[in-house]
Amino acid sequence: MKIIFATGNMGKLAEASEILGQGFELVTPAQMGITEEIPETGDTLRANSLQKAEYIYQKTGLDCFADDSGLEVDALGGAPGVYSARYAGDQCSFDDNIEKLLGELEKHPGEPRTARFRTVVTLLTGGEPHFFDGVVEGKIAFERSGTRGFGYDPIFVPDAFAPKTFSEIGVEEKNAISHRGQCLRAMAAWMAENL
Ligand code: IMP
Repeated sequence: MKIIFATGNMGKLAEASEILGQGFELVTPAQMGITEEIPETGDTLRANSLQKAEYIYQKTGLDCFADDSGLEVDALGGAPGVYSARYAGDQCSFDDNIEKLLGELEKHPGEPRTARFRTVVTLLTGGEPHFFDGVVEGKIAFERSGTRGFGYDPIFVPDAFAPKTFSEIGVEEKNAISHRGQCLRAMAAWMAENL
């Protein structure tokens, strides 16, 4: 089935294609001529995920889904959380965010480095929203390791593969346990049953 994934993040797109498999043809907003940045001004993952999906639905009238994710670090009171994308400021790079996070954690020596990724996926079909949640527990490494993935992957050590980071394990291994993998498999199962 053909469906729009409301993202401009090629890392997310590659993961979603792999997770959803051959039964899905994912179309990007850019392929639909939508090239501006999709607004995300909410203060929860669910609000942002819904906002992104609704934006694309209003422009196209087609079924679509969106993902909003955040990294919660316990020693930082759950930061960066919903602000994970712009933690080091507007227009910052993935590397700027990692640098900022490692710097903030240096101010909390001896505290646990426990953290988790959360995702909320919103599927809009026939204009109706359906939500799917995913979470993966882990720890923040002291330095970057590995080359795969995107975002905070080089410093996130999922409990299931410790001491390897998300950037050191294979794409399939990450997708099998990841926050995004959980959401998208649940979404595909819901679609198979209900559409
Ligand atoms: P958003 O969902 O696009 O707002 O992403 C939030 C932030 O978390 C961005 O900086 C992403 O790169 C990062 N992020 C989201 N998912 C992952 C992931 O699977 N691995 C690493 N970083 C991620």
